Order: sequence, then structure tokens, then C-alpha cells
Amino acid sequence: MSEWVLILGGSTGHGAATAKRLAKDGYGIIAFHFDRGEAKKLAAETITEVNETTGGRCHYFNTNAAAEETMDKYITQIKEITGGEPVKLLLHSIAFGTTTNFFGEKPVTQRQMDMTVHVMGNALLYWTQKLYAEGLLANGSRVMGLTSEGNYVAMEGYGPVSVAKVAMEAIIRQIGWELGQYGITANAVQAGVTPTRALTKITEGWEAWIENTKKRNPMRRNTTPEDVAGTISMLLKPEADFINCSIIYCDGGESRSGSF
Ligand SMILES: NC(=O)c1ccc[n+]([C@@H]2O[C@H](COP(=O)([O-])OP(=O)(O)OC[C@H]3O[C@@H](n4cnc5c(N)ncnc54)[C@H](O)[C@@H]3O)[C@@H](O)[C@H]2O)c1
Repeated sequence: MSEWVLILGGSTGHGAATAKRLAKDGYGIIAFHFDRGEAKKLAAETITEVNETTGGRCHYFNTNAAAEETMDKYITQIKEITGGEPVKLLLHSIAFGTTTNFFGEKPVTQRQMDMTVHVMGNALLYWTQKLYAEGLLANGSRVMGLTSEGNYVAMEGYGPVSVAKVAMEAIIRQIGWELGQYGITANAVQAGVTPTRALTKITEGWEAWIENTKKRNPMRRNTTPEDVAGTISMLLKPEADFINCSIIYCDGGESRSGSF
């Protein structure tokens, strides 16, 4: 138990920083990413670093982790890697969805909504169900997902992802409620606005957004992936065993500070 963590979306941003941090903490890393073109280079850098830190206890798979076939195909492999032992953490850190408004020039379609909510929300449930059924989540395991202020604030281009975040929070709450009796907890970490690859795709005005957020943040800076990784590392300690069905804020107080 407690030797391995499984990260969905572990090549860049929050997932990569968490992989690097948990590798330093002594965990073996199993991660999925879905990178093409230039992004593959960034992924390769992360994998090299995590591989070195873990002394080879590192398995990255470049494939769509939200597809049911992927889950079914790789769960056997995950079981082999951990020797049948449960993972300490299942983290959902996937950013893959449609960023467009509901109205205007490119109104979101049903297909785009369904895809976004599935990949960024529901997929966490199906992974949890399958891992649990195989005994890969057990007493002491954590299920976590990343949410954002966009779960209750309307923002330019963020509508579909916002719906996915709300779905994910509900899924996490319900997982923790049902599996808490077995010592498995589920929590969401709410990160502040963080300059990552995903953020640049939400709106063309992302640079101004980052600058304005710095001014609004009580700590006068943006959230970094390392902040989030540190929070997740802390939540894996035994002292956090009783934190369940919660949203933990890692944003310097940003979400408590009004815009101006
Ligand atoms: N950046 C922010 O401001 C911010 C704030 C709060 C929450 N979040 C959340 O954090 C999570 C991670 O986003 P990020 O900002 O680190 O973005 P990112 O683009 O840097 O990372 C996204 C990761 O998801 C992977 N990925 C994408 N589609 C995938 C798929 N189908 N299967 C497997 N892997 C896939 C990518 O390969 C990459 O590893 C997202 O859920 C995002 O909504 C981000």
C-alpha cells in the first residue's frame, strides 16, 4: 500500500508538478497524458525528470484516459505495476474540453458539452469505479480532482468547463460519501488562476487575466503548479485521513477576494 500514485493528466501543469513532487516524496508514478506535436516535448521533459527521481518507478501512457477502452485496457497493467496493491492516490488533472460561450459566434454544441463534461468530470467516476472493483483503491487511498473558481462564477469561454467542474465536485462528494466507510477519501483541490498550457486556451485575453488576478489575489501573485503539488503532497499524509468530501482551496485567498 501507499507506494504508487495514479495521475490522469501528468505531463504538464498541475499534474506534472504533482508527479515531480510525489516522486520526491518517494512514490512511484503511473500517469496518463494525451499530447501531440510540441506538447510531446514538454511531456518528455517531465517523464525524464520523474524517471530519474523515482529510479525508474515511472510509467507514462500517452493515450486518451477518458476512453472506457483505455481504462479497461490499462487497469490490468496498473495492477501488475503495483503488484496488486492499491494506489495511494487517483488524481484527475486532465484539461481537455471546449472553451467557448453558450451564445454568439460559436455557440457550444451538445457534442462539445457532452465531451467536456465526460472528460473533465464523469471520467473520474468511471476510473474510481474500475479501480475500486479491482481492489486498487482501499483503506488510505485518496481520490482527488482539481476544480476552479469557475465552478460558481461565470466567465468568458468557460461555460462548458464550468459545468464539468460542478459535475466533478458532485462526483467527488458522492465518492467520498460512499467509500468513506472503507477509509477511502475523495476531495477536490480548488486552484487559483495558474499560468499553464490549459489556461492559454480559455480566452485570448489570458495574459491580462493573469495580471489582473495577481492584483486581486491577497498574496499578490498567481497560483503555481508547485503550490498545488505541495497541497496534494500534504493531503497524502496520515494527518489528512479524516478530510473527506471537501474542497480545499489552494489559491492564496483569491476566491475570497472580489474583483475591482
Ligand atoms: N490552470 C488553471 O488556472 C487551473 C485552475 C484551476 C483548476 N485547473 C484544473 O487543473 C487541471 C489540469 O490543468 P492544467 O492547468 O495543469 O493544464 P495542462 O494543459 O498543463 O495539463 C493538462 C494535462 O491533461 C492531459 N490530458 C489532456 N487530455 C487528456 C486525455 N484525454 N487523457 C489523458 N490526459 C489528457 C495533458 O496531456 C496534460 O498532461 C484541469 O482540470 C484544470 O481545469 C486549472
